[in-house]
Amino acid sequence: MRVLCVCLGNICRSPTAEAVLRSMGGDRIDVDSAGTAGWHRGKPPYDPAIAAAKTRGYDLSGLRARQITAEDFDAFDLIIGMDAQNVADIELLRPDGSDTPVKLFLGYAPEVGRTEIPDPYYTGDFDEALDLIEAAARGLLNAIRD
Ligand code: 4NP
Repeated sequence: MRVLCVCLGNICRSPTAEAVLRSMGGDRIDVDSAGTAGWHRGKPPYDPAIAAAKTRGYDLSGLRARQITAEDFDAFDLIIGMDAQNVADIELLRPDGSDTPVKLFLGYAPEVGRTEIPDPYYTGDFDEALDLIEAAARGLLNAIRD
């Protein structure tokens, strides 16, 4: 299963989601991440995101930002957005005829009782983002177990 994690900048939430899914999912999934914006293309994740992830054993340091493209709808089986704006922006790129699902990541963690992962670039709360990303990753991996 090929999964693309998408946020706005591809330097906080989606690279964290990429590393968490890769760590928890092993060889069950191929995972990548991208941003709806291209501002940070070629850059590593934001230092505070790297530091917060490291405290939980996830290494973000080798990841580099890129912008999502229409070709990603063919290259991946599932595209997940971190918030509703991400999903709306991703949908604007959908090629005619593509039926690749685009889902909210927290849709896989209904027990959390929220739908969006707040952007830690603005909130400063990288632990909150990690908690939500880990919950969503567990749910997603359960959902694709068979
Ligand atoms: P992300 O956070 O979407 O979780 O990577 C952001 C990072 C950078 C910016 C916005 C959001 N920015 O405006 O540069």
